[in-house]
Amino acid sequence: MPLTAAETAATHPARAVVDLDAIAANVGVLRAAAPGAATMVVVKADAYGHGLLPVARAALAGGAAWLGVAQLTEALELRAGLDRTPSAGRPPILSWIFPPGAPLGRALEAGIDLSASAPWAVHEIAAAARTAGRTARVHLEVDTGMGRGGARPEAFAELVAAALAARAEGTVDVVGIWSHLACADEPSNPATARQVEVFTAALAQAERAGLRPQLRHLAASAGTLFHPATHFDLVRPGIAVYGLSPAPEVAGSAALGLRPAMTLEARLTVVKAAPAGTPLSYGHTAVTTADTHLGVVPLGYGDGIPRAASGVGPLAVAGRRYHVAGRVCMDQVVVDLGPESAGVAVGDTAVLFGDGGDGGPTADDWARAVGTINYEIVTRLGCRVPRMHVGAAGMWEDA
Ligand SMILES: Cc1ncc(COP(=O)(O)O)c(C=O)c1O
Repeated sequence: MPLTAAETAATHPARAVVDLDAIAANVGVLRAAAPGAATMVVVKADAYGHGLLPVARAALAGGAAWLGVAQLTEALELRAGLDRTPSAGRPPILSWIFPPGAPLGRALEAGIDLSASAPWAVHEIAAAARTAGRTARVHLEVDTGMGRGGARPEAFAELVAAALAARAEGTVDVVGIWSHLACADEPSNPATARQVEVFTAALAQAERAGLRPQLRHLAASAGTLFHPATHFDLVRPGIAVYGLSPAPEVAGSAALGLRPAMTLEARLTVVKAAPAGTPLSYGHTAVTTADTHLGVVPLGYGDGIPRAASGVGPLAVAGRRYHVAGRVCMDQVVVDLGPESAGVAVGDTAVLFGDGGDGGPTADDWARAVGTINYEIVTRLGCRVPRMHVGAAGMWEDA
């Protein structure tokens, strides 16, 4: 029999606490930043590690009109989960990745909007719609300078022609034209203005061909927060919804009015005295320099803690800042609590990152310490770590 939530909390010594009220409030901040546009909250990759369904519901409670995911599998899981919560409504969902031969009929039955980057994708969507006797809702993706998905401008006419042909037979409704920004996190980078120009030209080209979709969308978090000219009809923020800045060196969470939603914490499973000169963890890369106390924090690279955090990952115990001592193991890290730490006891809580409100470490601190971005710190958190959702937002009665 699976453990209940209370049993899991008592059994597993680590957890990620996700504040759904922070999610809803962050959506409010993003909506205010783009008042003329609707908001699609991006919940791909298990809502950046925060938990797909609770985050989706909190985002809707915070005023999101749309939900966005990358993979069709995520979209189907999301729709099925939301359909179990009738009071959450039936928001539109966009999914932007599928391979040739995917069972698109399943997407159409679930009312998922699909993206198409090339004629083959339009043909497969139209074929699925024909079989299902439905009209598929499609967003055409144009590559305005990201150099990733989307039809390059010189191939866009072909994509538009395929969409027009499918529309003429009634299998496809072109709901949107969209693209993605490459450098919006660098506010002075001229690439963003160039992408807006290319996007505007593609929209005009589509219109001349007879296509004027109701939704034009380009901006993710950085576009939403730093580039009003990218807002168009719909913005697609992800990282900022989770309270993290898309450009911490430009403006941190607090400066943007965002509250980091996730706190990663674990209870110390070992606290013991150790003399000066005690080598620590695999490879003995750290050695205690004084008589001290060691704490063991039961989180490791098997939970998504980067091994690159060996010797540098920050954490807080009883309000004091420490860092990981020695190498990160699969399930545990060691902390040298110092000679003054006699009050720390086994079972006390170590906070790896949180909202930083009490001067504690943040996901931004972890990203800086290990040379990555805050996106990776939260998203890579492993499925072994139980997520505990707190706050009232989106806690529908029928959830
Ligand atoms: C197409 C698309 N739109 C929006 C987002 C959300 O981006 P961000 O988390 O930077 O807001 C992503 C995420 O990478 C994406 O791939």
